[in-house]
Amino acid sequence: MSGSSIGQLFRVTTFGESHGVTIGAVVDGCPSGLPLTEEDIQRDLDRRRPGQSRFTTQRREPDRVRIVSGLFEGVTTGTPIGLLIDNEDARSRDYSDIQHLFRPGHADYTYWRKYGIRDYRGGGRASARETAMRVAAGAIARKLLMSMGIRIRGALVAMGAIVSDRSRWDWQQVECNPFFSPDAEVVEPMSQLLDQLRQQGNSVGALLEVVAEGAPAGLGEPVFHRLDADLAAALMSINAVKGVEIGAGMASATMNGTQMVDEMVPDGQGGVRFLSNHAGGILGGIATGQEIVVRLAVKPTSSIRIPQRTVTTGGEACEVVTQGRHDPCVGIRAVPVAEAMVALVLVDHLLQWRSRSGWEFRLPTRGEGEDETDSSFSPIDSLPAVPVADSVQEDAVVCLICKRACKALKGHLRRTHGLGEEEYRRRFDLPKEMPLVAPSYSAQRRKMALDQEVWQRLRQEKE
Ligand SMILES: Cc1cc2nc3c(=O)[nH]c(=O)nc-3n(C[C@H](O)[C@H](O)[C@H](O)COP(=O)(O)O)c2cc1C
Repeated sequence: MSGSSIGQLFRVTTFGESHGVTIGAVVDGCPSGLPLTEEDIQRDLDRRRPGQSRFTTQRREPDRVRIVSGLFEGVTTGTPIGLLIDNEDARSRDYSDIQHLFRPGHADYTYWRKYGIRDYRGGGRASARETAMRVAAGAIARKLLMSMGIRIRGALVAMGAIVSDRSRWDWQQVECNPFFSPDAEVVEPMSQLLDQLRQQGNSVGALLEVVAEGAPAGLGEPVFHRLDADLAAALMSINAVKGVEIGAGMASATMNGTQMVDEMVPDGQGGVRFLSNHAGGILGGIATGQEIVVRLAVKPTSSIRIPQRTVTTGGEACEVVTQGRHDPCVGIRAVPVAEAMVALVLVDHLLQWRSRSGWEFRLPTRGEGEDETDSSFSPIDSLPAVPVADSVQEDAVVCLICKRACKALKGHLRRTHGLGEEEYRRRFDLPKEMPLVAPSYSAQRRKMALDQEVWQRLRQEKE
């Protein structure tokens, strides 16, 4: 597999360099019939766009996306979706000084060793400009996920030594400050820190968290494509990410068994309830149905204005001061990128699950599932309703969550979605008379019960 592609069935390939004409992505494997507009993608791109506050790079890129293929009359056709964003504010002259030397901490040296040539303008292919295409592709994945009742949200939880307080965590806050911080009280100290670092020409690292809600229990693959393994690989592929953890992550090394284990109790409706989530919503590489929680450590920007020792391409010692427009904390703009990577992995796993079990996505109609910021979001409630009458056939009942055909839903709901019958009826507003067992199957069961009754009567008579 090429190093520029990710995903088995929902496959994304990106291309382009920081100071080239354009950057782009090909999204192959998106199901047909998904309503999609450039605006759907633009919304996510605008969250990552540079130059939006004084705390990010001042490169002024409008990042206007164009969908150039895979769409007909506003819906996806199932053929590769081509996405393009033109580079409009590339100032290559800023980089002429570093043409013959390696910036420490950037990919200059390694690209040169590998390819024997490097595009020194803005980091070339190693530039995080490429991550705009991940966000664009991720927006399509998110749209599919919303139709499945899965929502992904990210936040910056620490910047250097400033750590947000969990007790003040508020998702609404994330979109209200330039740092994607869920804690309003750390915004001012973070602003002060960045102003100070900017004056010094220095940078700082950050810790991000991404939470996926509504991923059904059972999502994931065993062994080499464990959901956690694929998530870690996708997140580690983001520029400047130096660590990824799932659930308790690195802290689990210091815990004992009783602290780590997520105990289970019956939920009173035939399913299970976990009492904690140290596993981060994944066991054995497969989702438990709880929130999937991942965290990533993003290193401080390596391009700083403080002189550093380095080497020229000719092998001579020299000093470098990196000019150009850089993010003092790349962790900020990495938040939408991390959300996009989680979305891409989850969609890919959903498609793999579909290919093995045969259930179908019910794609949203135009305008449906668009308000991702709606605080009243509830994973199951947001699923599009399937007409009740269609969901019962003679030999099967179709699960309204995953569209799988079952003989009897009760066991399936408990095993696959951790739901009891009552809760399922309540969520989908299903009347008591609505059968959760296929008519032919219940007739069979009735007959078996009758046979059993007859047999018992005969036995009693004999005794
Ligand atoms: C959103 C984002 C923006 C970034 N902006 C810059 C930047 O302005 N200057 C810089 O030196 N590195 C920046 N980086 C990091 C570099 O792209 C990265 O350090 C470089 O490609 C080397 O890769 P590595 O750090 O993963 O080893 C950014 C990363 C992200 C995720």
